[in-house]
Amino acid sequence: LGATTASTTSSATTDKYAFAFDIDGVLIRGGKAIPEAVEAMRVLNGENEYGIRVPYIFVTNGGGKTEEERCLDLSRQLDLEVSPGQFICGHTPMREMAEKYNTVLVVGGEGEKCRIVAEGYGFKDVVTPGDIIKTNQDTTPFRKLTDEEWANSRVRDFSTMNIEAIFVFADSRDWAGDQQIILDLLMAKNGRLGTRSETFEEGPPIYFSHNDVVWSTAHDYTRIGMGALRASLEALFKAVTGKELTTIAFGKPQLGTFQFATRLLRQWRKDTHRINRAPDTVYFVGDTPESDIRGTNEFDSHHASGDAEWYSILVKTGVFQEGTIPRFPPKKTVNNVLEAVKFGIQREF
Ligand code: G3P
Ligand code: MG
Repeated sequence: LGATTASTTSSATTDKYAFAFDIDGVLIRGGKAIPEAVEAMRVLNGENEYGIRVPYIFVTNGGGKTEEERCLDLSRQLDLEVSPGQFICGHTPMREMAEKYNTVLVVGGEGEKCRIVAEGYGFKDVVTPGDIIKTNQDTTPFRKLTDEEWANSRVRDFSTMNIEAIFVFADSRDWAGDQQIILDLLMAKNGRLGTRSETFEEGPPIYFSHNDVVWSTAHDYTRIGMGALRASLEALFKAVTGKELTTIAFGKPQLGTFQFATRLLRQWRKDTHRINRAPDTVYFVGDTPESDIRGTNEFDSHHASGDAEWYSILVKTGVFQEGTIPRFPPKKTVNNVLEAVKFGIQREF
C-alpha cells in the first residue's frame, strides 16, 4: 500500500494510483448512467473494504458543450460532483490552437454551443456554417436555417476574409450542409469563400476533435460518429478534386491527449488531494479498443522511468462486444466499470 494523504473525509486518499475514465459506453449511454457506474464512483470515493479514496479524472472524446456544462451533466447523471479540473473532452486540447489563427470555421454541435466553446477558448473570430448560409442561402440548396439559427447567425463579408482553419468540434447535425461548406472552403483560394483554387492544394488545415468512427449510445448497436464524417469528407474531397485530403484528429488515441490527461491528473491530485508526486499506475477504463485501449497502450509504451504506468481496462458495456477480438488488446477485460474499479483497487493490495 502506498502512502496516503489526509482527505476531506475520514477515509484516506491513496497517492499510489489513480483512475481515468472514458464516458460514453463506460459510464453513460444515451444520456443515462450505465447501472454500475454510480456504485463504481462510490467505491472510488471510499465505500470499499479498505476505506480508501482513489483520485480519478474523465477523458472523453465527446464534446459540443463547455467543460463546465458537461461536468454539470455528468454530476447529475452520476450523482456526484464532477469538476472541470478533472475533465477533458475531445475539443479541450484545441484551446491551445486559439492563438495560432485569426478567423476559423467551427463546425458541429447544437445551435450556438460550439461557437461559445470556441470563443471561451480564446478563438478571436469564429464563423459557423449558419453564418455562411445566412449570408448566402444558395450555399446549401436543401438546408434552410430554423428561426433560432437564423436569429443567432451572423451575416459576414466573406469576400474580404480568409478563413485560416476549420475545426470540427462536435458531431455534425447536418452532414450534407456541413460537408458542402467544408468542401467549398477546402477548394477555395487561400481560405476565401466564393473563390476556387486551380490546384486544390491551398485549403486551410482541418482539425477534428476526435476520430471515433462509431460510438456507443442508447441504440443496441454502435452509431456512426465524427470519424465517419472525417472518412466521408476525405472520400468526397478525392471524388470531387482527385486530390488527397490530409486531416488532423485530436482526442484519444492521440498521445497528446494522454499527455494532456497526465498534466490534468497531476494538477487535480495536487489541488484537491495535496499529492505532490506522480502516481505509479493510472488505470484507464474504456469501451473502444481503437481509441481508449490503443491510446493507453501506446502512451504506456512511451513511458520513461518516473512516469506512471498506464494500465488499459476494456469493458463490455459499449463499443466492444463480447465474442469479438479487439484490434488493440487491453491488459484486462471486465464486464463493466464497477468490476474495473474493484479490479484496480484489489490489484494494488
Ligand atoms: O462523440 C463521443 C464519442 O465518440 C466517444 O465518447 O466518452 O466514449 O470517448 P467517449
Ligand atoms: Mg467510450
